Amino acid sequence: MSKSRRSDGQTAVRKPVLGVRWHLALSYLLVIWVILGILVLFMSRLLETSIIGARRASLYGQAHLLASAIRARGGPSAARLTSIGGIPFQGRVLVLDGSGKVLEDSASDPAMAYKKIEFPEVKAALSGREGSNTYYLADGSFVMYVAVPSDWDGNGGAVFVAQDLGDIVTQYENVMRMVLSGGGVASLVALAFAWNLSRMISEPVSDLSRAARMMASGRLDSRVSPKGPLETCQLGNSFNHMAAEIEKTVEGQEQFLMAAAHELRAPLASIGVLVESMQISPPEPEELSDLIDDIHTEILTLQNISESILSLLRTRSGAAAASKERVNPVEIIEEVVKSRVHISSEKKLEVAFRYNRQKEAKVKTTVGTKVRMDPLLFRLIITNLYDNAVKFTSPGGKVAVSLEFPGNGSRMVLMVSDTGPGIPPEHLGKIFNRFFRIDPARQKSTGGAGLGLAIVNEACDRTGGAISVESRPGDGAVFTVEWQNVHVEYS
Ligand SMILES: Nc1ncnc2c1ncn2[C@@H]1O[C@H](COP(=O)(O)OP(=O)(O)OP(=O)(O)O)[C@@H](O)[C@H]1O
Ligand SMILES: [Mg+2]
Repeated sequence: MSKSRRSDGQTAVRKPVLGVRWHLALSYLLVIWVILGILVLFMSRLLETSIIGARRASLYGQAHLLASAIRARGGPSAARLTSIGGIPFQGRVLVLDGSGKVLEDSASDPAMAYKKIEFPEVKAALSGREGSNTYYLADGSFVMYVAVPSDWDGNGGAVFVAQDLGDIVTQYENVMRMVLSGGGVASLVALAFAWNLSRMISEPVSDLSRAARMMASGRLDSRVSPKGPLETCQLGNSFNHMAAEIEKTVEGQEQFLMAAAHELRAPLASIGVLVESMQISPPEPEELSDLIDDIHTEILTLQNISESILSLLRTRSGAAAASKERVNPVEIIEEVVKSRVHISSEKKLEVAFRYNRQKEAKVKTTVGTKVRMDPLLFRLIITNLYDNAVKFTSPGGKVAVSLEFPGNGSRMVLMVSDTGPGIPPEHLGKIFNRFFRIDPARQKSTGGAGLGLAIVNEACDRTGGAISVESRPGDGAVFTVEWQNVHVEYS
């Protein structure tokens, strides 16, 4: 199906006239009839050059033999054709004098006696050259005329032989009939073959377009059963894979929307309740500040959630490919740690940041070390991991961030560890899911949407980092992200 642009900007879909069935059938027929045409041409040439040529040579030979025999017996006046014999089958022989007049006719036709023969072959023979030609006569017969020169009595002369080539024509017609009927049978077989072959291709293709139409109308569970030759099976499998991925993505988006709406509903409901209570009984002046604080907290939660959703969507969209700028990761980590210093000191947390090289590295890592990485994505990773460590560690605990460049400067390892409550083993596989929190009720005070680690996960994917977590309940958590090929530049 081809498309063309219409003047109104719409894309007009032009329906092809012929289906694959007709395309195949016509192609096969074309090939067969071209081959047959070449065969017929070749056979006509063969007839011309070899069969008719051989007959010509044979007639020349017979004419020369007759001429020699007549001369040996004293010329046309003494030798009679009937006594010499050697008249070709289906043929007729004329013995001519030097002016082309008939001296003797093997058919003994009295009308031919002394009649002047003026065929070009005869003229050639009377001027001393052999002459021959083939003719289609008015009665539909195909004949060959040959004439050879002969001198009877010093005045020249010729022997003219005519032969009906009906036997060759019959032979040719028989062969042609066989070729054409063979062509007819081959065409029928080709048509049947094309029909069958096109069914093998067109059926899976029709199934595919039906399933695609159903998907377009919202039936995302539409699938095809792959069949036909290898390519259509592969096409069917690819379609099913694509359909499953689309279904999964749409389902994921729906779930995400539902979860997002659910998360936004709780703080909005709290604000609603607070405002309603203020409408029912206007608060005393001393209560007002607490109520405003409560509303402010809920508004901050709403802000956090919407910012996290936006970050996640931006990270996920991939509309802009992750950039590979020269980034100073040490600087970014220090900025993040510094910007959270009021929370960590409020909780009296012991915060340690360590960056160093591995023993085997040749160059010492310094604060100026740079890597090729998207700075925004790296910042999202460190921010969310560090925020979690600070948020979930009890006052007086420890949070450590370390950055290492093992090997010879192509790998980078970021570790964020804390002495918080840790993560139970059954939740380790779920903490990267969107909107997952281990204990949503208890974590109301920490006020998160459960999106931070989902953002970290996406950002790791897009920067080529592998994230892992080790934790035992009550014994803190260690999050590790490892990047390969970050092209570390020491300075
Ligand atoms: N360092 C940690 N120690 C203990 N539990 C953690 C730690 N980091 C994450 N978790 C658990 O994993 C859950 C998911 O973390 P995530 O960062 O995705 O969400 P959040 O911190 O609750 O909210 P948000 O990051 O959206 O503000 C957390 O709610 C918490 O239960
Ligand atoms: Mg978090």
